[in-house]
Amino acid sequence: MTDNLELSHQKMRAFQPQRLSAPRDFVMPDAVTKSKSALVLEIGAGKGKHALSFAMQNPDKHLVAIERTRNKFEAFEKLAGQQNSANLTPIHADAIAWIVHAIAPNSIETIYILYPNPEQHNPNQQWFNMPFFEFLLSRLQVGGEIILATNIEAYMDNAEQQAREVWCLPTIRSQVASSSQRTHFEVKYLARQETCWELRVQKPEGYQTRFDTWTIASMSI
Ligand SMILES: C[S@@+](CC[C@H](N)C(=O)[O-])C[C@H]1O[C@@H](n2cnc3c(N)ncnc32)[C@H](O)[C@@H]1O
Repeated sequence: MTDNLELSHQKMRAFQPQRLSAPRDFVMPDAVTKSKSALVLEIGAGKGKHALSFAMQNPDKHLVAIERTRNKFEAFEKLAGQQNSANLTPIHADAIAWIVHAIAPNSIETIYILYPNPEQHNPNQQWFNMPFFEFLLSRLQVGGEIILATNIEAYMDNAEQQAREVWCLPTIRSQVASSSQRTHFEVKYLARQETCWELRVQKPEGYQTRFDTWTIASMSI
């Protein structure tokens, strides 16, 4: 595993977390440092449909759901305020900078990336292509999962290939049930009879990244 990963690293330039400033008005949520529940992340939560129902259905887990676009976040924040789930923390930030500044290595049980839909012509914006993906893997617990969903077949094909060949990770790919309604985008695509796919990627025992001991605090020592 380590040998494979080292080989793949030669193809991938290293992510440079030390270059990222904290998001504006960054405050570390108590849930991240003090919660005794399993921590779950959602990247690109939109208006929070998945986050709100996940929090209701999983009272034993704490979900931190991050959304960068202001108007979507404001809609999400309003609904989260009405639902008032103690186990949900909505965050308005760029997920990359926020995760670098807030999340400890080996601490996250599951990471959801649901319908990221980047610029189709810019492969650098696809999460599994980014040097940041190695950092994200370092934040995942052993046995933890990244769950990706998309309606773009080429995005799914690429993510699956990257997971196996670059990141040396086991993957499970499946089709999303036509009755599923996890997110606004999922509802929209399935209503149009489009196929949606899901990829589950698990971090195996003994998996190593170059960020396994990296924390923002280690930069100020
Ligand atoms: C196509 S929308 C999908 C929203 C929701 N997951 C859904 O399925 O309805 C993708 C979302 O990801 C958000 N996003 C993209 N990159 C992000 C980043 N680096 N940090 C936080 N949010 C991001 C966008 O603002 C957008 O709201």
